[in-house]
Parts: sequence; C-alpha cells; structure tokens
Amino acid sequence: MIEIRELHKQFGSLKVLKGINLNIEKGKVVVVIGPSGSGKTTLLRCLNILETPTIGTVKIGDVALNFNQKVSKSEIQSFRKLTGMVFQNYNLFPHFTALENVIEGPVTVKKMRKDEAKQNAEMLLEKVGLKEKINQYPFQLSGGQQQRVGIARALAIGPEVMLFDEPTSALDPELVGEVLKVMKDLANDGMTMIVVTHEMSFAKEVADEVIFMDQGKIIERGTPADLFSNPKEERTRQFLNLLK
Ligand SMILES: Nc1ncnc2c1ncn2[C@@H]1O[C@H](COP(=O)(O)OP(=O)(O)OP(=O)(O)O)[C@@H](O)[C@H]1O
Ligand SMILES: [Mg+2]
Repeated sequence: MIEIRELHKQFGSLKVLKGINLNIEKGKVVVVIGPSGSGKTTLLRCLNILETPTIGTVKIGDVALNFNQKVSKSEIQSFRKLTGMVFQNYNLFPHFTALENVIEGPVTVKKMRKDEAKQNAEMLLEKVGLKEKINQYPFQLSGGQQQRVGIARALAIGPEVMLFDEPTSALDPELVGEVLKVMKDLANDGMTMIVVTHEMSFAKEVADEVIFMDQGKIIERGTPADLFSNPKEERTRQFLNLLK
C-alpha cells in the first residue's frame, strides 16, 4: 500500500531524513516514536509533499513519485490527494465555520460540487461527534473539538492514508480521549494510518506496528508488545526509559 524507498530530505546542509525505507500494508496502523528533531514530522510532511523530498521514491497504491528525477506539479497534486494530514495545532481556517473548513478541500482540490461537499462534510462531522457544532467557528470550539474538525477535514478528500502528527499533544489531558476515540474508530473502519504520538496506551491498543526513529533513520520496528517490552537496540531502550 505505502512504499518508501531510500527517502532523503535535506534542509540546506542539514540532513534530516537519511534513507528511510518503509512498507506499510493496507489497513495497518503504524505509530512513529522518537526524540525531538529525529525527523518524524518531516517524514509525514514528505508523504503529504508539504516538503519535497531531496531524493528517493514514495508510492501509495499504484501512484509513485520518484524524486531521483524531475517531478511535475500535477503529479504532486494528484499524489497529495492520497493522504489526509492532521496537524498538532489543528491548522483550521479561523474565518471558516467547522462545516466550511471541511468543505474547502473537496471543492478546491477535488472540484466537488458544493452541495455534494456539504452533504459529505455533514456526514463526516457527525461521524466525529460534532453534529451540533457544524456552524461554529474554531474559536468557539474546544481544542478536542477543533482537532476532530481537523480529522473530518482530512477525511473529506477521501484519502487512502491518514497521517497524524502528534494530534493530541496540544490538548488538555481531559480532551485527549475524545480525539483518540475518533482515531480508534477510524482504525477499526480499516483506514491505513501513520500516527506520530507518544500516547503509549493508544500505540499498545491500536497500532499494528511501532517504529522508532532517531537522527533521520528508522532504528527499529516491531509490534507494540515487542518494541515496548523487548527493544533490541540500545537507543530504543534509552528513549523508552525517558518516556516512563
Ligand atoms: N523547514 C525547515 N527548514 C529547516 N530545518 C527544518 C525544517 N523543518 C524541520 N527542520 C529541522 O529538521 C529536523 C527534524 O525536524 P522534525 O520536525 O521532523 O522533527 P520531529 O521528530 O518531528 O521533532 P518533534 O518531536 O520536536 O516534533 C530538526 O532539526 C528541524 O530543526
Ligand atoms: Mg514533530
């Protein structure tokens, strides 16, 4: 489903991703952990092509981008529709209601008819438990509610893969659960997901696989049970000790 080959990303002289290789099967949930600055966000942004990889290939389903050669804007645009991204700080449009935030992508990116996009947005906002809030602006919503709008918005373009970058880390503790619940429901529906999070209970319960990244590389991957209780690499062990 997802194939990442020898992916490198460099900002000027700073090498941030140093040869990422990763296969993820359809319907799997992969949690990515690792120290600050290890490249977790950059990896997700490279999959959504918010950053252009320096070299390497990424493939989702049958659609591949090879950054070892020139990649056109239209190729990038069609690839971008395959992933929905959920950001740490929600990134909602402040001057749009919840509904308008969810409608925007399908109408502008997918050229969906407005009435169709609206119907779809209402269905998605209901799915994330915000039926009553569709006409509210972001400032009228709690962090947990804003993030659930963020999830509905990412789903609205009908992505093959959902990417979550620390979706609950900006939330007050009592609001974390409602967002994780929506993510669990998505996983149960069979969505393929890559989730950067340090919510260990979520990883243990929902992830098929956990990946530990350090200094731009995948150091170790395994089932949550294996990686958390029986890490093979010293660096993984050290990192997990810090989380305890
Ligand atoms: N647009 C950019 N320009 C220059 N350097 C960048 C840019 N984006 C990220 N970096 C650098 O790349 C490195 C990896 O950043 P990244 O945000 O991917 O790490 P991370 O693993 O997500 O960290 P955190 O856990 O703090 O979110 C950092 O050294 C960061 O300063
Ligand atoms: Mg990050």
